[in-house]
Amino acid sequence: MHLNVIVLAAGKGKRMASNLPKVMHTLGGIPLLERVINTAKQLQPQHIHVVYGNGGGRVRDSFQHLQVEWIDQKEQLGTGHAVRQALPFLTDDTRVLVLYGDVPLVSVDTLQKLLNQTGEDEVGVLVAHVKDPTGLGRILRDKEGKIIEIVEHRDASDEQRCLQEINTGIIVCNSTLLKKWLPHLKSHNEQGEFYLTDIIAFAVQASIRVHGCSANSEFEIQGVNDLWQLTTLERAFQREHAKKLALSGVRIMDPERLDIRSDTIEIASDVTLDVNVILEGKVTIGKNSTVGANCLLKDVDIGENVTILPNTIIEGAEIANGAAVGPFSRIRKGCILEKNSKVGNFVEMKKTILGSGSKASHLTYLGDALIEANVNIGAGTITCNYDGVNKWSTVIKSGAFVGSNTSLVAPVTIGTNATVGAGSTITMNVPDSQLTIARSRQIVVPDWERPRKESVTKNNEAIQE
Ligand code: UD1
Ligand code: MG
Repeated sequence: MHLNVIVLAAGKGKRMASNLPKVMHTLGGIPLLERVINTAKQLQPQHIHVVYGNGGGRVRDSFQHLQVEWIDQKEQLGTGHAVRQALPFLTDDTRVLVLYGDVPLVSVDTLQKLLNQTGEDEVGVLVAHVKDPTGLGRILRDKEGKIIEIVEHRDASDEQRCLQEINTGIIVCNSTLLKKWLPHLKSHNEQGEFYLTDIIAFAVQASIRVHGCSANSEFEIQGVNDLWQLTTLERAFQREHAKKLALSGVRIMDPERLDIRSDTIEIASDVTLDVNVILEGKVTIGKNSTVGANCLLKDVDIGENVTILPNTIIEGAEIANGAAVGPFSRIRKGCILEKNSKVGNFVEMKKTILGSGSKASHLTYLGDALIEANVNIGAGTITCNYDGVNKWSTVIKSGAFVGSNTSLVAPVTIGTNATVGAGSTITMNVPDSQLTIARSRQIVVPDWERPRKESVTKNNEAIQE
């Protein structure tokens, strides 16, 4: 039987106190709704239908890349009403799994377990035992332990409120049954809404088994209703991620001070991550590399035995084996640092290849440059790559030595093994193997006297003037 997923994401999210629609807020760097959809996709459903409403157009537009079916719920009249909006898009006899856009961490394993344990003509509910069930729907069972009803917190008696087994909201049911039951939902409850959970009572009446499947952890069924819950869940999520990395051989100096805002991270064993490291996008780090304190790495491919010293920002770059970067370096998009190259403090690089063994140790800007192997770039070297309209490139051939405080006015090429004298402004190509100096000559001015202050006279005249 085919599987269809319906993700409910139309709720107002009022308690978020935010202009951004709830499901667009991120957890671990990825929007809540995108996390749910990514998980759903792993179940290989026929279709994923997202029921949206509040902030609608904005939500739909920002998730165009996810390739799901969008269903507009014009008025938010409850979870049952939301699922009903999807019915015209469901063929008979498919399995329907209902997920929530604001329960972002539910795992594929748990969902697969729910699907496997529930017969194709039965109803399955993902349940959990929680310490504080306030606000959640309670699972009512009969003496034999069979589920007979779900009662919302607001509608529950004091006795029912003592129950700690709750409805996570995730439900699986056959589309034919949903089509039969949902039009009969009533809104006779405290909120005046059409509750999806009322289908449980319909199932019991029809002698259809309702299977309660327990979530693997309380953590994965947490919903997000306000920004404090999101912040708390973010920390829990980061801790889980750090734990997984640590158990795979990554030394994390403090799990509370590591932030992984991505789900495309690969870190080899014997890597050390110091405090306040942020990883974003696609990051890979090879064996024995270390990342110092306060580093931001985004879309970076780092090789083995690489040292990233503190306060370094790298984005969209490749750092090969044995290279060293930082402290206080900024490596921007399109940079490749080849083997054993070294970039030191206050060096900014953009779209530049730094050849193997080459060094730019201090206070330098290298943009649109191709620097071959074993080049030394002196402190204060600047590639003048921009004429106000166009960007031009600089080529520095292998073995060249660029003296400190040199301006390389691009387009320009520095020859193999060439030496450029300190303080030069290079506007023309520099030949191989020779010393080129482009600065004004030093002169000595004889008999020049430095102006002196008049000495203070006895009656203070000089001062009065
Ligand atoms: C729901 C469940 C409750 C469960 C809890 C778990 C019902 C009646 N109650 O309650 O048993 O314990 O979730 O968190 O199902 N939504 C829509 N359209 C609507 C209403 C809601 O798309 O008209 C979406 C929301 O965006 C949200 C989800 O459905 O993603 C749940 O809605 P919410 O109002 O948060 O339900 P709860 O009262 O928390
Ligand atoms: Mg809720």
